[in-house]
Amino acid sequence: MRYGLSLFAAALFLAIFLCAAPLLPQGARQSTCIECHQSMQDQARLYQPVEKWRESVHAKNGIACHGCHGGDPTTMDEEAMSPDKGFKEVPKPETIPDFCGACHLGVKEDYLASAHGKALGKGGPQCATCHGAHGIQLASPQLINSQSCTQCHGYERAAQIREALVTTDDRMSALDREMKSLHRVGMEVVDLQGRLFDTRNTFHRLFHSVDVQKVRDNIAEIQGRLSEIALQVEGIQAQISRRKRGGAIIVGLLAALTALLLYLRHTYSREEKSG
Ligand code: HEC
Ligand code: HEC
Ligand code: HEC
Ligand code: HEC
Ligand code: HEC
Repeated sequence: MRYGLSLFAAALFLAIFLCAAPLLPQGARQSTCIECHQSMQDQARLYQPVEKWRESVHAKNGIACHGCHGGDPTTMDEEAMSPDKGFKEVPKPETIPDFCGACHLGVKEDYLASAHGKALGKGGPQCATCHGAHGIQLASPQLINSQSCTQCHGYERAAQIREALVTTDDRMSALDREMKSLHRVGMEVVDLQGRLFDTRNTFHRLFHSVDVQKVRDNIAEIQGRLSEIALQVEGIQAQISRRKRGGAIIVGLLAALTALLLYLRHTYSREEKSG
C-alpha cells in the first residue's frame, strides 16, 4: 500500500518535471555553439575560446558565443554558423570596435574620437588589444600597466592617467563601503547611493579618451561631486554618534538614579534599625 503510494508520487513528480522542462529559460540549456566547439579538442583555435569565455565577465552576465558572433545556438550542425542565421564574419582588428560597439556604444564613441581610435588600422590599439576577446574581465585601472602600454609608445602619459584614475577609484570604493555600513544600521542612503552610481558611470567613461588634460579636468569635477557626497555621509555619521552619545547620557543618568535609590533605601533601613 505505502509502496504503491510513493511510486505514484514519484510518477507524478516525473510527469510535472517533464511538462515543465521545455519552460526552462533559454539560457539554462547549453548552446550548440558551446557543445560543438568544446568537443573539438584537436583544434585549439576552435575550443580555446570556450575555455577562456567560461571565466569571463560576459559568461557571468549571460552573453554567450552568439551574443557576439550571431548565428543560431539551437542548431546542432554547422548550419548554426550560416549568414542566414545572422552569423557574422570573424572580425578583423579594424572592425572589432564596431563588433563590440554593438553593445558598448558609449565606449565605442569615446574610443573613436580619441588618439587611439584615430590610429585604428594605422598602428593604434583596438578593444581586444587591451581587453582580450574571450577572457574579458571586469575593467579596472590595473589594465593600464607598463607592460601592455609600452608596446607602441612611452609609459609617461599612461602613468599620469593611471594615477588620476586610481586615486578617484579608491575614493569611490571607500564611499561605497561607508554607505553600505550606514545602510546596515538602518540609515536612509538610497539617494546618495544613486548619486555615487551616476558619478561612477561618468568616471568610467573617461579613460577611453586617453587625453591626459581631459581626464584631469573631468576628474576635478568628479572629485567635487564626491566631496559633496562625502559631506552628507559625514553628516549621517555625526547624527549616529549624537544618537549614541544621547543614549549613553540616558543610560548614565538611569545608573546614577538607581545608585541613589539603593543608597537611600540602605540609609533608610539603617535608621529604622537604630531607631
Ligand atoms: C556542429 C559543430 C559546430 C557548431 C554547432 C558551431 N560551430 Fe562554430 N565552427 C565549427 C567548425 C568545425 C569550425 C571551423 C570551420 C572552418 O574552419 O571552416 C567553426 C568555426 C567557427 C568560428 C570561426 C569562423 C572563421 O571564419 O574562422 C566561429 C567564430 C564560430 N565557429 C562560432 C560559432 C557560433 C557562434 C556557433 C553557434 C551559433 C557555432 N560556432 C556553432 C563547428 C561548429
Ligand atoms: C565578447 C565577444 C565575444 C564572445 C562572447 C565570443 N567571441 Fe569569439 N571572437 C571574438 C572576437 C573579437 C574575435 C576575433 C579576434 C580574436 O580572434 O582574438 C573572435 C574570434 C573567434 C574565433 C576565431 C579564432 C581564430 O583564431 O581564428 C572562434 C573560433 C571563436 N571566436 C569562437 C567563439 C566561441 C565558441 C564562443 C563562445 C564560447 C565565442 N567565440 C564567444 C569575440 C567574442
Ligand atoms: C551582446 C552584447 C555585448 C557585446 C557584443 C560585447 N559585450 Fe562586453 N559586456 C556586455 C554585458 C551585458 C556586460 C556586463 C554588464 C556591464 O558591465 O555592462 C559586459 C561587460 C564588459 C566589460 C566589463 C565592464 C565593467 O563594468 O568592468 C568589458 C571590459 C567588456 N564588456 C568589453 C567588451 C569587448 C572588448 C567586446 C568586444 C570584443 C564586448 N565587450 C562585446 C555585453 C556585450
Ligand atoms: C588602450 C587600451 C584600451 C582600449 C583600446 C580599449 N579599452 Fe576599454 N578600458 C580600458 C581601461 C584601462 C579601462 C578601465 C578604466 C577605469 O577603470 O576607469 C577600460 C574600461 C572599459 C569598460 C568598462 C567601463 C564602462 O564604461 O563600462 C568597457 C565596457 C570597455 N572598456 C570596453 C571597451 C571597448 C568596447 C573598446 C573598443 C571600442 C575598448 N574598451 C577599448 C582599456 C582599453
Ligand atoms: C597598439 C599600439 C598601442 C598600444 C598597445 C597603446 N597605445 Fe596609446 N597610442 C597609440 C598611438 C598610435 C597613439 C597616437 C600617437 C601618439 O600620441 O603617440 C597613442 C596615444 C596615446 C596617448 C596620448 C593621447 C593624446 O591625445 O595625446 C595616451 C595617453 C595613450 N596612448 C595611453 C595609452 C595607454 C594608457 C595604453 C595602455 C592601456 C596604451 N596607450 C596602449 C598606440 C598604442
